[in-house]
Amino acid sequence: MSDNIRYPLTRPRRMRRDAFSRRMMRENTLTADDLIYPVFVLEGRNRRESVDSMPGVERLSVDLLLERAAEAFELGIPALALFPVTPPEQKDATASEASNPEGLVQRCVRALKQALPELGVITDVALDPFTSHGQDGLLDKHGYVLNDETVDVLVRQALSHAKAGADVVAPSDMMDGRVGKIRDALEAAGHIHTRILAYSAKYASAFYGPFRDAVGSAANLGKSNKSTYQMDPGNGDEALRETALDIAEGADMVMVKPGLPYLDIVHRVKQAFSVPTFVYHVSGEYAMLKAAALNGWLDERACVLETLLSMKRAGADGILTYYAIDAARWLREAR
Ligand code: PBG
Repeated sequence: MSDNIRYPLTRPRRMRRDAFSRRMMRENTLTADDLIYPVFVLEGRNRRESVDSMPGVERLSVDLLLERAAEAFELGIPALALFPVTPPEQKDATASEASNPEGLVQRCVRALKQALPELGVITDVALDPFTSHGQDGLLDKHGYVLNDETVDVLVRQALSHAKAGADVVAPSDMMDGRVGKIRDALEAAGHIHTRILAYSAKYASAFYGPFRDAVGSAANLGKSNKSTYQMDPGNGDEALRETALDIAEGADMVMVKPGLPYLDIVHRVKQAFSVPTFVYHVSGEYAMLKAAALNGWLDERACVLETLLSMKRAGADGILTYYAIDAARWLREAR
């Protein structure tokens, strides 16, 4: 450090003294524009179920989804992401329900686009809610998840979402080459405006546990894991290679998942590619904050907003979080 910036000439606390100068030099802010709201949906009417491992989060039938979506829209949240709970009798080894044009997700998309055309609708392209074994793809006779055969099914699923009116399809499966195949199929079918949000760097994380409870895939998956396709938590460079592939294959947006334990990856991806970069504040991260809050151990509002702001600071353009509605409301109240 050169002499002329030494104390007492430079007093960093000067700028922190008053709210106005703290506001003037604040580099990152969180707004409702940054939030994407993930919702669990189930069959039926006027049905809501709580998720034990995610207090405050509910699975909603389509009619209640519309009410919740209107609330999110009114709070300024740009988009929501749908995650279906599939009745066990509709699950099979090849996830045939995934591309059913009358499937739950497809019906939710149509209902949302009709009721709230300006609210962005994101669908999850992955087979785990639909497979009897809980894996994200088709299995060979040794239980290995087949890549190319799975991609064929994912392409049909993504097409059915686009046909139903989904604005964004989000492959979260981590199969090789799926973004390119989905992009080609969308173009060929005339869906040139459908955006692809690629889960580019998705780790084989234990923080997805509560999500698997929420969609009911945990029991199907049993003791097996997803390490032959989701990434090893020890790797960083591999995340950049995966992201480069997805961008080359036609992704409009990329995502890192989970969030807080992987902010170094968010930062590296944003620095390396300068593309719209998203981060998933996943179910286990929600559960941790909620559990501490319910025990009175943490100030929930302050800790949630600090967590989400940290994701922005790391380089995220947007955040999928189960706290989206709460956060948008807290931000509005703080204004
Ligand atoms: C499905 C999918 C998962 C999540 C999002 N999409 C679970 C998984 O990969 O096992 C997890 C999200 C969360 O934990 O909140 N492929």
